[in-house]
Amino acid sequence: MTKNVLIIGGGSGIGKKLLEQYKKKYNVFATYRNSKPKLNGINLFKLDIGRLNEIKKFINWLLKKKTKIDYVLLIAANTGTNFKIVGSHDRNIFLKGLSAKQFEFYLRINCINPIILFEHLIKKQILTKEAKAIFFSSLAGSIELRGKMLHNQTGGNILYRVSKSALNSAIKNISYDLSKTKMIIVALHPGWVRTKSGGKSADLSIVYSAKKIYELIFKLNPKHNGKFLNYEGKEIKW
Ligand SMILES: NC(=O)c1ccc[n+]([C@@H]2O[C@H](COP(=O)([O-])OP(=O)(O)OC[C@H]3O[C@@H](n4cnc5c(N)ncnc54)[C@H](OP(=O)(O)O)[C@@H]3O)[C@@H](O)[C@H]2O)c1
Repeated sequence: MTKNVLIIGGGSGIGKKLLEQYKKKYNVFATYRNSKPKLNGINLFKLDIGRLNEIKKFINWLLKKKTKIDYVLLIAANTGTNFKIVGSHDRNIFLKGLSAKQFEFYLRINCINPIILFEHLIKKQILTKEAKAIFFSSLAGSIELRGKMLHNQTGGNILYRVSKSALNSAIKNISYDLSKTKMIIVALHPGWVRTKSGGKSADLSIVYSAKKIYELIFKLNPKHNGKFLNYEGKEIKW
């Protein structure tokens, strides 16, 4: 039977490419925020993940579809590229005058609300018993690797890093809560990818990253539950 995939954040970047890929062989349900994907045969919902009332409406919309989701990809994130929304980049850097409002915003978009959405999916039994949940994290959220990467010395967007570390912590915790089920939850680093957030000098094309992620998700098994993986399936230290 054709599997059902849910993509949160399929409007642009890596999410859009994965949506195009999954559409070929899966039934796809996807959310977008600004740019609506121009593809036929996809169930689309406009969702700002920062708004709990929209998440509630989205869950009701999914319930009406009477579908069980096999794979859920939580990709949408505040990557700090939209300054009109997130404010000056300086307010994300320690000792430059951190903004509490921006800090809260990063945590809400990148950790709190995706986790709440995921809890709804489970509690409302929208996921299959063997569902795979893939949360898009980042190497930037690895505490162990802090300072060990070239681009990762002093300064930089501490709010983004902390929000991804918080997400990682939530994923590790939830993996224990799910350990008596057959569900799999992982944190995934998609690579340094040439998107709006990754920039032009990044290592990987969107096509390559999406292809590797697509192959990896297919191969995920219960041994991967609670792991932090990169796009090639290699384990990353938390
Ligand atoms: N690219 C990289 O090198 C890299 C590296 C490590 C981790 N990642 C992670 O990989 C994921 C995808 O990254 P990307 O490079 O494709 O990023 P991107 O090009 O900046 O896209 C971010 C996506 O998140 C959506 N989004 C942002 N805020 C949202 C909100 N409040 N509600 C709903 N959707 C929202 C955007 O929608 P709109 O288009 O509508 O704004 C867009 O689809 C992210 O989780 C990112 O943190 C990327």
